[in-house]
Amino acid sequence: MIIMMKLLLFMLLSHVLVDGRKPNVLFIVVDDLRPSIKVFNDDNAYTPNLDILAQKSFIFHNAFAQQALCGPSRTSFLTSRRPDSLHLYDVHSYWRHTVGNFTTIPQHFKENGYMTHSIGKVFHPGVVSNYTDDFQYSWSFKPFHPVTDKYKNSRVCVNRYGHKQANIVCPVRIEDQPKESLPDIETLNAGLKFLQRKWSKPYFLAVGFQKPHIPLKYPRKYLDYHPLNKVTLPKNRQRPSDLPNVAWNPWLDVKSRDDVAALNISFPFGMMPDNFSLLIKQSYMAATTYIDDLIGKLLTEIDDNTIVVIFGDHGFSLGEHGEFAKYSNFDVATRVPLIIHVPKWTETLVQSKELVELVDLFPTLVDLTQISPSLDTCSEKETKLCTEGISLVPHMIDLINNKTEKVRKRAIFTQYPRPGIYPSIYPNSDQPKLTDIQIMGYSIRTSLFRYTEWVEFDNSLFLPNWSKVYAIELYCHQFDKAENINLSNRPQMKHIMRRLRKQLIRGWRDAVDNF
Ligand SMILES: *[C@@H]1O[C@H](CO)[C@@H](O)[C@H](O)[C@H]1NC(C)=O
Ligand SMILES: *[C@@H]1O[C@H](CO)[C@@H](O)[C@H](O)[C@H]1NC(C)=O
Ligand SMILES: *[C@@H]1O[C@H](CO)[C@@H](O)[C@H](O)[C@H]1NC(C)=O
Ligand SMILES: *[C@@H]1O[C@H](CO)[C@@H](O)[C@H](O)[C@H]1NC(C)=O
Ligand SMILES: *[C@@H]1O[C@H](CO)[C@@H](O)[C@H](O)[C@H]1NC(C)=O
Ligand SMILES: *[C@@H]1O[C@H](CO)[C@@H](O)[C@H](O)[C@H]1NC(C)=O
Ligand SMILES: *[C@@H]1O[C@H](CO)[C@@H](O)[C@H](O)[C@H]1NC(C)=O
Repeated sequence: MIIMMKLLLFMLLSHVLVDGRKPNVLFIVVDDLRPSIKVFNDDNAYTPNLDILAQKSFIFHNAFAQQALCGPSRTSFLTSRRPDSLHLYDVHSYWRHTVGNFTTIPQHFKENGYMTHSIGKVFHPGVVSNYTDDFQYSWSFKPFHPVTDKYKNSRVCVNRYGHKQANIVCPVRIEDQPKESLPDIETLNAGLKFLQRKWSKPYFLAVGFQKPHIPLKYPRKYLDYHPLNKVTLPKNRQRPSDLPNVAWNPWLDVKSRDDVAALNISFPFGMMPDNFSLLIKQSYMAATTYIDDLIGKLLTEIDDNTIVVIFGDHGFSLGEHGEFAKYSNFDVATRVPLIIHVPKWTETLVQSKELVELVDLFPTLVDLTQISPSLDTCSEKETKLCTEGISLVPHMIDLINNKTEKVRKRAIFTQYPRPGIYPSIYPNSDQPKLTDIQIMGYSIRTSLFRYTEWVEFDNSLFLPNWSKVYAIELYCHQFDKAENINLSNRPQMKHIMRRLRKQLIRGWRDAVDNF
């Protein structure tokens, strides 16, 4: 069986290796992008370029980030390690200094003969990547950052009285912007410049687009694709009455923008008025169309020997459960779009419903390019090169051979920290610092259920106390995909909860076949 698979893989890959040359990799990460893409069944979306790429790619409908916050999620997928292994739940530490000299995806490509380059936001900036995007280890030359980054939160959004504000809803005219540009446009231009050069080695190019992260600042022409009367709000825009307080993220960063602050929304449970929710959603969709357009331009410069991976670093709530932003364990905050295009593997859209995780990207890219033997699964406290995910390649081969999907992961795992059981401004309960973390929400998602336990957490030993449980949530995806009804007090669910709890405590190793 395994030999058969290896043989098949070899045959497929020999197609990829044009002239015996290793394929290039274009690795595109989009900040805060949920699956608001037409081909992922979002009717509000206008994303023609991603939809066209998907027509010759694998798309994963059930892909999840490990934590709904940029820094931890990015370090997690770039090292194929989970937040608990990285001791990283905030944006204040660099893994090589705190836990171990773990290898990153680009570092492994660089060490195996690739030219590696980073453009825009790939690593989380600042201390998380040692203020250098982990340059000396991960990249062949200095990472590129747009000069207009420094105007990220500037007061450049003109309100109806002509005043300049720092708004969340911020369609702009590029010619009015500082330096007459925007960061993602600079990122695109740097990407095009890189792709237009002739490289003597295969490349691994990582491009990180900032939008649709807030503020929703984008060229206003993209609003034309999203007339307000076509934008629909989610049905579940109330806070579920049985949602535990600890699970609630009070979207402080959204409330701090000038336009939202003017609405005087009460802390912590106040609701966004519907008419403003519509404006936010409209601009999120328009900012996504903007990024789709930039990605389309970038893709015109790749050759037919380039693997393309496109995904979001985590999801984003746009009113679901009465919430905005990320900072939670709900599907809407943790589920991401994932598109993988492998040249010559498929000329049609291949859709997967399997549960996959962003920690799977590293072993998958190693197997697709065969730059080294497949990665081994990390044992506890392993610091050498290894993975806490699995390669998706066997599943992808099954899919193109029309084999029935075989479940390879019985569950995926996400987590989110809190400083206390009640939402707070100080400390910020959306983004607590490590030293403030008292509670960890551990969440397991199977094909049928999401089960979350908020338990006591020791922030110096990095250990949960499973005997001290503050709150439990249980959602049944068969009937309640939106995760509106917490079933955890229903007596008939007792048995299922006992099983899910056991699975949650055993963790990811136990959920993977052949381990
Ligand atoms: C970390 O790993 C890199 C690359 O393998 C190596 O060059 C470096 O010496 C290591 N650093 C430490 C402190 O072990
Ligand atoms: C991180 O940056 C500091 C300051 O430049 C440097 O001294 C240190 O060696 C870097 N860490 C690693 C692991 O390279
Ligand atoms: C918000 O509060 C401020 C100060 O109390 C007040 O001037 C303003 O009218 C309020 N706005 C709304 C929309 O209630
Ligand atoms: C939303 O509705 C309120 C109350 O009807 C109104 O005062 C406000 O101007 C509206 N806001 C927008 C952005 O349309
Ligand atoms: C899989 O099914 C599709 C659609 O039915 C068909 O076009 C394709 O040739 C099949 N592939 C294989 C390898 O049998
Ligand atoms: C875990 O929580 C239980 C229940 O509150 C408590 O008795 C126990 O001491 C805690 N264990 C640790 C290691 O803190
Ligand atoms: C979950 O929902 C039940 C009702 O179904 C509710 O009674 C319970 O308090 C909720 N769980 C928590 C921990 O709040």
